Amino acid sequence: MIVTTSLREITADIAAAEIFAQQLGIPFVARNRQSMQELQSNTNATVIIVFENQQPVVTNSAGKFFFHRGLSELRILNLLRGGNDPLVRALGLAPGMRVLDCTLGLAADALVAAHVVGETGSVCGLESVPLVALMTRFGLETLQTNFVDASPELRAAAGRIEVVPTDHAAYLPELTDYAFDVVYFDPMFRRPKKSSSGIQSLRDYADARPLSRETLQQALRVAKSRVVIKELSGSSEFARLGIRHFAGGQHSSLQYGILLKGEEPD
Ligand SMILES: C[S@@+](CC[C@H](N)C(=O)[O-])C[C@H]1O[C@@H](n2cnc3c(N)ncnc32)[C@H](O)[C@@H]1O
Repeated sequence: MIVTTSLREITADIAAAEIFAQQLGIPFVARNRQSMQELQSNTNATVIIVFENQQPVVTNSAGKFFFHRGLSELRILNLLRGGNDPLVRALGLAPGMRVLDCTLGLAADALVAAHVVGETGSVCGLESVPLVALMTRFGLETLQTNFVDASPELRAAAGRIEVVPTDHAAYLPELTDYAFDVVYFDPMFRRPKKSSSGIQSLRDYADARPLSRETLQQALRVAKSRVVIKELSGSSEFARLGIRHFAGGQHSSLQYGILLKGEEPD
């Protein structure tokens, strides 16, 4: 894996690309007018991260993989107009809460949560794939400064998310009891949802391991009120993980399984 810039080789892109490469512990290779094919054969890299407009982009079989807002901004606007959001309801979010998102991905859910908990709350996002974690961290930083059309609410939410590149199974046992109000998991679905194009480009890089019951026990210990797991409606994962309470799902293909503090999974 290497980092380079687009053929335009803008100074700001070179600077950002060098920082990204250093943080990921992989080489930065000056583009020097090489085509992608030339770069590939000169470096033997299977993944080439290209900086353009100070954003890292990876092209793969599913298209381009880069940080984007997904539906987070529309969901925040909907909340501002008085609408509901199933995740907000499932987590029971309110201003001032501390949220641990154990499967950060590109942070669409984390942005919505960060908006609701507001400036007195916080969101910590764990992501086990270093490339995804760093892409999201850069994306959230650029959202605050360089996305000219981002709403003030989205910018503010981006500034409240701390990205921690780590495996939640290793991180949860290190936390004290009640360290967070709620803990959230949105693992890669066991059976991919074909229509979800937003997640397709992430799929090639994401950590697709299933959640374990031990991890859920740790999450329940760390949470003050509840642990929430998102899955496809009717997924057998809910039974495997011993979940009894649900939110959403009636008219949606998605369902939120809820484990309440003090409750033992089935
Ligand atoms: C479905 S995506 C999450 C999407 C996210 N909720 C959003 O709104 O953008 C799942 C993400 O969790 C990450 N992941 C899976 N297992 C993990 C683990 N054990 N620790 C931390 N992150 C994990 C995957 O790499 C992937 O990026």
